[in-house]
Formats: sequence, C-alpha cells, structure tokens
Amino acid sequence: MTDHASTAQHFPPLSQEFLQDEIDALLPQVIGWRRHLHMHPEVAFEEVRTSQTIFDILSAIEGLSVARPTRTSVVAELRGQHTGPTIAVRSDIDALPILEENDVAYRSRTDGVMHACGHDGHTAIVLALATLLARHRQKLPGTVRFIFQHAEEVAPGGAEELVQQGVMDGVVHVIGLHLWSPMPVGRIGLISGPAMAAPDTFQCTLLGTGGHAAMPHQTVDPIAIGAQIVTALQQVVSRTVDPLDPAVLSVTQFIAGTAFNVIPGSAYLAGTVRTFDPGLRASIPAQMERIIAGITSAFGASYEFSYERGYRPVVNDPALTARLTEVVETTFGVDTLIEMRPSMGGEDFSAYQQRAPGVFAFVGARNDAEGITFPHHHPRFQIDEASLGIGLRYLTAASLDLLTKS
Ligand code: NI
Repeated sequence: MTDHASTAQHFPPLSQEFLQDEIDALLPQVIGWRRHLHMHPEVAFEEVRTSQTIFDILSAIEGLSVARPTRTSVVAELRGQHTGPTIAVRSDIDALPILEENDVAYRSRTDGVMHACGHDGHTAIVLALATLLARHRQKLPGTVRFIFQHAEEVAPGGAEELVQQGVMDGVVHVIGLHLWSPMPVGRIGLISGPAMAAPDTFQCTLLGTGGHAAMPHQTVDPIAIGAQIVTALQQVVSRTVDPLDPAVLSVTQFIAGTAFNVIPGSAYLAGTVRTFDPGLRASIPAQMERIIAGITSAFGASYEFSYERGYRPVVNDPALTARLTEVVETTFGVDTLIEMRPSMGGEDFSAYQQRAPGVFAFVGARNDAEGITFPHHHPRFQIDEASLGIGLRYLTAASLDLLTKS
C-alpha cells in the first residue's frame, strides 16, 4: 500500500466506468452459467457436479489459482500485480430439496431438487467477477479470494468448515450478497449492524402413557400435554424477552398419534428460535425447558429436550456498511439503495465475519409485472435475471473500492 501513489502514476486506476462495457458484454455468459447451474441443482454437502463445473470454469481463467478446500467447495485466488489488501468475495452454491414447478426451458433436470433460493445466480455473478478482475490483474492492487461455498442451507453449514481450512487467513474485508425476491429488481439493500438472526433449533419428545381414547383416565395423554406446552412456549418471547430485543420462537412440528380411538404414548415437537442478542440466545433454552419440565411433571409425563445452536447472527460492520453505501450511491445513484430492516432469517456468512469485517448485501430480484413474486424456498421461486448484472456491478464496484482505497 506504500507504493500506491506511484502505482497510480504508472497504471491508470481501474474504474467502474472503465469496466461497465465489459460487464454488459459478460451478461449473456452470466445468464448462461446461471441457467446451467439451475438445470443441475445439488443439495447441501452433495455439490459434486456443481463444484466441478465451477472448478473447470475458474481453471480456464488465466491468472487464478484454484483450490478445492473441501470435497464440494472451490476457492480461487487472484493476485493483482500491485501491493494492496486481501479481500474475500463469497458465493454459496447449494440448492434445496424442492420439486420445481416453474415451466422454463432451464427447469431443474433433477426431480425434487431446485435452486429455489438464488444460489445459482450468486455463483454465476461471482464467476463473472473473477473473470472480469482476472483480465485486469496487471492493474489490480491486492489479492481477491473468490469463495464458492457449499452447504449454506443446512447446519452446520459450509462456511465454518472453509474458515477452518484457512480461506479467511489474511483477509481484511469480506463481502457477499443475496438475490432477494421480496425486493424489486433495481434496488440494493444494506443493513448496518445486526442483519440476520441466529437460527437455532429444538426438539422435544413427550413421553406419556397410551391407551384407549374412550378411557383417558387410564392414560397420560401427550397430545393434551403437548398442546399446553405449545401454548405456554408462546409466553417465552411475549412475557420474558425485552420487547425491544428481536426474538422468535416457532413450534413448527407437532407429530403424534396413529388412530382416532388411540391415545398415543408419545408426541414429538420441534421448531426454531431466532435471536440476535448473545445473552438472550443463551437464556432461552433453559426457559423453554423449565416450561416443558413444569407442564409434563404437573400431568405425570416425562420428556426429552434438545436444543441445537445454528449459525451466529450476521452482523454487518458499520464502517464498512457506510463505505459500501457510498459505493452503491456513486455507482447506481441514491434511489437504488434501500436501508433495510434486519431479517430473522439466518445465514452462515456470519462465520466469515468472525474473522474480518464483512457486509452481506441484498440485491432485488422481484418483478411484479412479470409475475416473479414467489418467496425464497418456494417451488415457483424465480429471479429477474436483470438482477445478475446489478449484483455483478455492485460486487465489481465494491471490490475495486476495497482494493484501491484502504
Ligand atoms: Ni439463500
């Protein structure tokens, strides 16, 4: 960074205006990559073909050194020819176990698996970013690490594994994005500070005594007990959490019984807890268990309870968010930016943020006029592909800013 001034004298700095024509020229390729990935989706930890495709594309790009840190992930490194910081750009690559209901030429060719969250788009965007920046490595200061991460959708997630493999070593800033169907195409959303929640999960088996439905007095009915537990668990957030601290407790599974005239011996409850605050997060499992223990013991049943911590919350570095806000405003104009509210959804991008300041951005992908309105993880989820160009332009501008102005 010391020879920055002299570098600039000999090499005109890369500007996004300079790259805009190239971005436009790359768009058909980006759409092609995205559609190819869309046709061949693979679920978390099974991205064998996907990672091979990514590896092959990156290996053909001059100037990149490409590695496979785990069986189904890919990381490429681009060393610019001038001194500068190391930054990381992350894409996730996994799909979901959903049967696609879209009738498009590039519909999933694997029944029951679908890119229903937009990770195919993320991958195509970051492949294009690598292509673009590698072309200009003679003028580029610093190093860019392109992370193609497996298994975002399933805990424990791929991010933590890649961090353990050292992909964040030496990185000073990390950025990533999500194509976002609730937001209209053409807009970019940033959130300063806490952005996405910690998604924990719980399971509880209620052990009663089964018997004839007509003789309930001879049973310990786990359905009646479970219903009270579901109701009482609503009090955890509404009566014990500070109303100004975001928290969600949802019971999403209640499984019991086999016949109308049989009281079952057990019932199964499961669900998710979402929080931001670490202290609150730590206190909730014990509160839940107190309720479960109290109600089961009051009615003579017993229970098994387990609580699993998911990803850490995504917390965007405020200084870096301010900087990228400026990047969005300069690149696209002030009307593009949406200062978003945090989401109770989870993301393992948080694992990278443990190692360096990072910002996770949201790129609008919705188009009401075209009927592209279905939510993420829906069998008819789609993106407006214009979002791919916007995402690429954002990451290009952001990368150049982080590499040249540290
Ligand atoms: Ni996603």
